[in-house]
Amino acid sequence: MSAAQANATPDGKPGRRPERKADRTPVIEVRDLVKRFGKAVVHDHVNLDVYRDEVLSIVGGSGSGKTVLLRQIVGLERPTSGSIKVFGEDPTQLRPAQLQALRNRWGLQFQRGALFSALSVIDNIALPLRELRALPDNLICQAALLKLQLVGLSARDADKMPADLSGGMIKRVALARALALEPELLFLDEPTAGLDPMASDDYVALIRELRRELGLTVVMITHDLDTLVALSDRVAVLADHKLIAAAPIPDVVKVDHPFIREYFLGERAQRAMQALPPHGQPDAAPPGEA
Ligand SMILES: Nc1ncnc2c1ncn2[C@@H]1O[C@H](COP(=O)(O)OP(=O)(O)OP(=O)(O)O)[C@@H](O)[C@H]1O
Ligand SMILES: [Mg+2]
Repeated sequence: MSAAQANATPDGKPGRRPERKADRTPVIEVRDLVKRFGKAVVHDHVNLDVYRDEVLSIVGGSGSGKTVLLRQIVGLERPTSGSIKVFGEDPTQLRPAQLQALRNRWGLQFQRGALFSALSVIDNIALPLRELRALPDNLICQAALLKLQLVGLSARDADKMPADLSGGMIKRVALARALALEPELLFLDEPTAGLDPMASDDYVALIRELRRELGLTVVMITHDLDTLVALSDRVAVLADHKLIAAAPIPDVVKVDHPFIREYFLGERAQRAMQALPPHGQPDAAPPGEA
């Protein structure tokens, strides 16, 4: 078994080699997860840890269960068996108020759309704060404006409606909303899908910057190799209903599996991976960005 495969089944026992992050506190612990819809198996005994301060990307073919895994982690879908803990708590075991308190510790940017079309930009961002019912509206608006600026938009965009935004702006507003409650953990499902290469690069730079400034742990699903290479500390690969690797990219590519060969070793992938620094630590700021 390779090092990458060994890391796919974290057991917390001796022999686990620390990789590059100093803080190996697990923020998410997926244990022996099985998920079936009727007879269709999506996850077959999946184990995965996500550590504080890392960017973990989940890849796998279409229908391999990336979104379903994320939905189970955030408690929108129940595992058939096995367990998932986030910040040490199992969302399925919590009472509604406790679950809400846990949910307030993460932000979620969904795969599809995500903005409420009838709400302005600022009202979309303010929504999670309004739902908290803890702050007066003038403070909520100020906080939402700050988040708007944090994602590189300006107060001039506040009153625009989602239909008037470019694809890149929609992603940024959705991100601002995901950050509204100042989460420690951020889930991104295909954050750069549908963006042109320049908008995609800008978004990647934004996530990199936010991560540095806010000290976020990020779990990201992406098909996009450039995004994957630019942001990931580790990559988790779903195939054949299993997690076949969870490791930094240079270790993942050594795992002998058809999906990995096709995804990481094709010509396009090789071009994308030229962006990896020699020591393979993609979150290191490129020259001039530090
Ligand atoms: N609520 C549901 N009921 C039945 N089957 C479902 C449900 N949700 C997802 N599935 C199935 O589970 C499998 C995994 O779906 P999932 O959306 O996680 O794939 P994915 O890896 O995110 O794919 P993509 O890359 O296309 O987004 C698919 O076969 C899907 O049809
Ligand atoms: Mg999906």
